Amino acid sequence: MATAATLDAVVRAAGPQLGSLMERVEARLAALATGYGPLLSHHAGETIAAGGKRLRPLLVLLAAGDPPEEAADRLLRSAVAVELIHSASLVHDDVLDRAPTRRGQPTVFAAAGRTAATATGDLLFSRAFAELAAGGEADDVRALSAASSALAQGELMQREDAWDVAVPLARYLQRCELKTGALFEAACRLGALAGGGPADALAAFGRAIGLAFQLLDDVLDVSGPASRTGKARGTDLLDGTVTLPLIVARERDPQLAATDLRALRSGAETEAICDRIAATGALADAKARALTVVADAKSALPSSLPPAQRATLELVADGVVERYA
Ligand code: FPP
Ligand code: MG
Repeated sequence: MATAATLDAVVRAAGPQLGSLMERVEARLAALATGYGPLLSHHAGETIAAGGKRLRPLLVLLAAGDPPEEAADRLLRSAVAVELIHSASLVHDDVLDRAPTRRGQPTVFAAAGRTAATATGDLLFSRAFAELAAGGEADDVRALSAASSALAQGELMQREDAWDVAVPLARYLQRCELKTGALFEAACRLGALAGGGPADALAAFGRAIGLAFQLLDDVLDVSGPASRTGKARGTDLLDGTVTLPLIVARERDPQLAATDLRALRSGAETEAICDRIAATGALADAKARALTVVADAKSALPSSLPPAQRATLELVADGVVERYA
């Protein structure tokens, strides 16, 4: 199931109230991008409007279960804040990667340069915390701050590990948990805090499916096809980012273990490495690992959860590993 379809399926399963909450999240996101001068409004607005899967705000809402009416404001603030941090991190990531496109559109970096892109990410980042601060819940601010710090740590680890074909598996997994798992974790924790559910158990679920999301992302980077993923195969390899498919494949193919990623010059050379990785069976094994992480996360959900809430969380968990973009 692709992720856009996941959202539809989840809204169908959870009922119309979820759809209308997601619409309120969208409206609030659009409003928050404005008011800081025309240039920032333009770039922040375009970033928000370019869309995305909105998985993190969806998880905030689902982790809240069936919250009391008076929790709605807190819930919306959390859903919006999590998506703003996600958007901020992508805008900054594109500066660091010098990425030309994201979500099928030119990145802010490509359209307006490093300075404007850095400022746009900074604005989105600060709006996230303003949104939570206005709610006055210190626990919420703490949860999002922890996730933001983890993102920064994960990103830095990735830079430190660049071009290292021998990077240990455990270090790669830790990087994925920091870079991606932590914000999924925060999304679920924030929802649970607003809805009064089991915050630690839901946070652990979020962290696991965030890890699985990143594992699958890294498989898609190698498998493509570009027509479905929206980016060229092997983009990570060209950036020097060594991920699970190569980590698995290097044990099976000595020539891959000896690859100098810095020497890759063309798309054709990179595609050839992707094909070589695929020929070892590493893509299927990496995807199987992501599926196992999801299965374990689903079975660790507390038995006290209402069945309807469990069903929607499970749908999202499955959607994270059954997608092409
Ligand atoms: C995208 O992943 C990038 C991230 C998940 C994290 C980026 C984090 C930072 C730039 C640190 C700054 C943090 C904040 C809170 C502003 P990817 O590079 O694997 O995927 P991609 O192919 O979509 O770029
Ligand atoms: Mg990147």
